[in-house]
Amino acid sequence: MNNIGIYPGTFDPMTNGHMNIVLRSLKIVDKLIIGVADNPNKKPLLSIGDRIDIIKNDILINNISEKKIQIQPVKGLLTDFATSFNAKCIIRGLRVVSDFEYEFQMTGMNFKLNPELETIFLMTSDNNSFISSNLVKEVHNLGGDVSKFVSKNTIKILNNKNS
Ligand code: COA
Repeated sequence: MNNIGIYPGTFDPMTNGHMNIVLRSLKIVDKLIIGVADNPNKKPLLSIGDRIDIIKNDILINNISEKKIQIQPVKGLLTDFATSFNAKCIIRGLRVVSDFEYEFQMTGMNFKLNPELETIFLMTSDNNSFISSNLVKEVHNLGGDVSKFVSKNTIKILNNKNS
């Protein structure tokens, strides 16, 4: 188990698009640390505890071995977090061209902070390229059906938030 990767995100909430990246990352790394972070530009709807519970449940229903995954809150810099796990790479999903600029900046900064840490981008699969956590929350909040984008358990947690 020496090839460790970090998959960081706000995951507010994790969507099927994120899960697709998790499943494909496991073909590249032996162990994936899912880092649940707070992006200073976002105000998450869900607590860090809820976001972690959702990911744990989604891992379970996708039959992913618990030995291959660790879910951890990210405190402080992502590069320090990655170093503390002896990770060799950060994995990010790229959906559309508009993701590129933001990802390009983060990758550049992370590379300056730790040149040993590579960032790997996986193109989001076709049917997930339009999903975003914000859109899922908006559609759900307005009474739309989000069952194609998130798990049943996630919908339950979102229902509790809106009630
Ligand atoms: N399928 C569907 N949607 C996807 C996706 C995929 N494969 N990959 C990303 N997304 C969507 C998410 O749903 C989310 O949508 P939203 O903007 O509507 O919420 C968006 O793309 C990206 O969010 P997410 O993947 O959750 O990550 P993020 O961009 O919020 O994460 C961090 C940013 C956490 C990686 C960054 O803030 C960080 O590293 N923080 C730690 C502190 C630090 O080191 N800062 C310095 C960084 S240089």
